[in-house]
Amino acid sequence: MLVVGPKDGFSEELAENLKCGFIALDKRVFPDNEICPRIMLDNGIKDEHVVLVNRMQRPTDPNRYLVELLLTIKNLRALGVKKIDTVMPYLVYARQDKIFRKGETLSTQYILQLLKDAGASRLFSVSVHFQREEGKFHAPLPAFSISGFIPIANYIKKLNLKKPIIIGPDKKSGQFAKEIAEAMQCESAYLEKKRDLDTGTIETKTKLDVSGRDVVIVDDIASSGSTLIHAIENLNNPNKVICAVVHPVLTGDCLEKVSKKAEFISCNTIASPISKISVAARIAEFIKAV
Ligand code: R5P
Repeated sequence: MLVVGPKDGFSEELAENLKCGFIALDKRVFPDNEICPRIMLDNGIKDEHVVLVNRMQRPTDPNRYLVELLLTIKNLRALGVKKIDTVMPYLVYARQDKIFRKGETLSTQYILQLLKDAGASRLFSVSVHFQREEGKFHAPLPAFSISGFIPIANYIKKLNLKKPIIIGPDKKSGQFAKEIAEAMQCESAYLEKKRDLDTGTIETKTKLDVSGRDVVIVDDIASSGSTLIHAIENLNNPNKVICAVVHPVLTGDCLEKVSKKAEFISCNTIASPISKISVAARIAEFIKAV
């Protein structure tokens, strides 16, 4: 087994945890923004089992990240690799798993099909947006979602919080909050969130009394940050507020605006200034187990 990936610390950490070799992936960009990923080979890799990892960084560019992966999977197959486990710590396009409005595209399914058609054998990702449970999910190729909330729970446990309560900003993330609260043996709750599909604006209905308590707001993704800000603004009298997310997509001024109101931390599924919680060891465990 060999890990192929960019030299960003994450790929190397994955290789260490898998106790295998590492080959760097160089990602050259031409002046017109076309890319030329290159596997920095010394020797041949024919018949190898390759774990290909590509981690996005902030500012995120999902289209480029995807093309880098597709070109590299094709390249590995052309070089005679026999098995390719593709690790996308953040599965892009996973929020468009349904046709919400007439004429839209079923992006998630098409992206998964493209990975398979390029030659990926299996896909490993973290807290995939449309997937609630950890484990295998339905896709054109064998695909697995690994919980990023377990590493978050382990991190929060060490913080010595005062009367902690874990809160999901909406019903779906209420499940994540419950998962973390169970691991920490504390209380959880969720707020009611409504998003306008045309404008993207958010309305949060419930006000929660958390007087004198330390609150951890958890979610899978922070993109614009509106969901987290609305949740913070609907807490009455908290002692301390921490926002902990799996995927720090952090578009626009998300990082600045959330950091002004709370301590903001995330997993390292995307490289960013708040990516303090590593999921590499957990991905490695999962790859070894299935
Ligand atoms: C929604 O279903 C997700 O779980 C997140 O709550 C959402 O993607 C966060 O987006 P934003 O930061 O733009 O409010």
